[in-house]
Amino acid sequence: MENQLTIANQPQFHRLKIAKKKQLTKNAFALELEVPDELKPRYSYRAGQYVTLKYPFFEKEIQNDYSFTSAPFEKNLSLAIKINGENSSTQFLFNNYKEGDEISVSEPAGRFFLPYKPNEKRTVLAFASGIGITPIISHIKNILQEEGLTRIFLFYGNKSYEDIILRDELEDLQKKAHGRLSVYYFLSQEKVKDQLFQGRLDEKKISLIINQILHLDEDDEESTIWDSTDKVLICGPGAMIKSVANACYNHGIPKKNIHFELFQAFNEDIYPTEKEFPLIENVNVTIQFNHIVKEGIILKNNERKLLQQLLDLGYKLPYSCKSGICGSCLCYLKKGEVVMTEDEYLTEKEKQQGKILPCVSIAMSKDVSLDFDLY
Ligand code: FES
Repeated sequence: MENQLTIANQPQFHRLKIAKKKQLTKNAFALELEVPDELKPRYSYRAGQYVTLKYPFFEKEIQNDYSFTSAPFEKNLSLAIKINGENSSTQFLFNNYKEGDEISVSEPAGRFFLPYKPNEKRTVLAFASGIGITPIISHIKNILQEEGLTRIFLFYGNKSYEDIILRDELEDLQKKAHGRLSVYYFLSQEKVKDQLFQGRLDEKKISLIINQILHLDEDDEESTIWDSTDKVLICGPGAMIKSVANACYNHGIPKKNIHFELFQAFNEDIYPTEKEFPLIENVNVTIQFNHIVKEGIILKNNERKLLQQLLDLGYKLPYSCKSGICGSCLCYLKKGEVVMTEDEYLTEKEKQQGKILPCVSIAMSKDVSLDFDLY
């Protein structure tokens, strides 16, 4: 369902030249984009961000988001794109756009960031599935470049060996990282000798990884790699993110250290609500976004988080993690009461200013008014 609130929420697009196009696997290809000098400031980005490509596809106008596979310190600006089927818009893009053609590309967006700590020795775990490798490889390159002491363990799931996207680049990175990057592949539809590497990345597999790969730490005999983990990065389908994030949390990693990016709409909360709240039915919500006010939105009850209920009704509000980590959904609570199930991410000052994160907020009053126009 489209609604008025989306109209003013359009990203800025520019025409960029395709400098290179390369097939990566049977179902994925890479595009390298050329940015003219005058637009360079608009295309400076952080690892983990994405752009939207816009192009005509028969009667429609397609807009799809693609994460950078390049890192900010690299000259080129690269994307990897999965072909979603024979008659898909991505197959059309692959067939009809060649090197030298121009395409509309939005300015970078997204909040799948990681604060960089160039002077610390950290352990970062990354979990990717299929095309979910794209923001992860950008983070990996950036960490290897910016944090000389940090080590990274990548667990990457695919259907078969041939489906592993950016395999050559990952292996090259691993070789050049001198032991700071360890890559493990998991295959779900091809037989592998070691059962550990057979199957999908899910809760059960994470327990095995913790016990069989992350148990001994050569750098510290008294600890394990798992116990010294500082940050976890996850990217893949919603169900995989949910499963891996909950496994990491249940094994002791604080939620604020688990970062992920939802690529597609996923109509479930990532973490279950751990408390019960008094039931309120027919919650009356007002939202303001892009200076458009929408009143009289009725939510069936307060059993689910505010943001997810509004997304389900078709309101295209800003979000990324849906878990109170990234701050994308930050808004003012203008009227009413809410309880945030995770509130360690907002500063005291932000809370005093009346800011809330609706992705982790349960309505505690019959009327609630949210203002997403922060500036
Ligand atoms: S969507 Fe990330 S904090 Fe709400």
